[in-house]
Amino acid sequence: MYTQLEQRSMAVPPVNVASLMKMKNDGEAIACITAYDASFALAVDQAGIDMVLVGDSLGMVIQGHDTTVPVTVEDVIYHTRNVSRGLQRAFLVADMPFMSYSDPNQALENAVRLMQEGGAMMVKLEGGEDQIAIVKHLARHDIAVCAHLGLKPQSVHKLGGFKVQGRDPKEANKILNNAKALQDAGADIVLLECVPNELGKSIKENLDVPVIGIGAGPFVDGQILVLYDILDITQGSTPKFVRNFMLDQTSPINAIKSYVRAVKNKDYPAPEHCFS
Ligand code: KIV
Repeated sequence: MYTQLEQRSMAVPPVNVASLMKMKNDGEAIACITAYDASFALAVDQAGIDMVLVGDSLGMVIQGHDTTVPVTVEDVIYHTRNVSRGLQRAFLVADMPFMSYSDPNQALENAVRLMQEGGAMMVKLEGGEDQIAIVKHLARHDIAVCAHLGLKPQSVHKLGGFKVQGRDPKEANKILNNAKALQDAGADIVLLECVPNELGKSIKENLDVPVIGIGAGPFVDGQILVLYDILDITQGSTPKFVRNFMLDQTSPINAIKSYVRAVKNKDYPAPEHCFS
């Protein structure tokens, strides 16, 4: 039978949507990170990262913009293609940039480009109730989708900054309901950014699909951070949820391994990385 294993290493089965779901159901924390080039892709793959995101954070950490808003589909395709060449095992997700999914047909066209030209296995979009029709349309075409909720960096100018979301009970309830609705529309993963621990916990408990957090507390199914943050490359102030994994490590690969261990052992995030 034709299987994915025959195209990649037989010794190291690639991670896919089903194995991510199994990790959730087995209580194994999913270790995720961003990457933007082939060398770091190779390193994160060798360190045992389960899922790699080519995030539109590349606009900030690679291109030097203040926000993710200027990033284009071409930018994400370019970086996804480079990352895909370095991966053997990890599952590859590509971000849909600002205004690349403003209606279902545009979303489908750009998601197909990220997959066919970039090699992405899943696309991520920042969602709320307005994205339900888009997620349904992508799912109907068998495109794997990650829905990003909580702090949505593409809305930074409307939000008035990178702020914790869902502290107000009404707003928390809205995020929870949106997460359920996006799952029901076909999202395979929900990513939660900058929300209080309790909201992360309640979303994880109410969803069947894996919930990956960044600043969403310890109770979700997995963690993701921006690679340059854990390697202490980011200049200036770093968000509260970031831990510098280069401390006590002699090389970037050892720092990434230390991050994977900390996520799997549930030593990260610690209380000082969390919001209440
Ligand atoms: O763009 C990105 O890197 C992201 C992560 C912060 C999750 O969306």
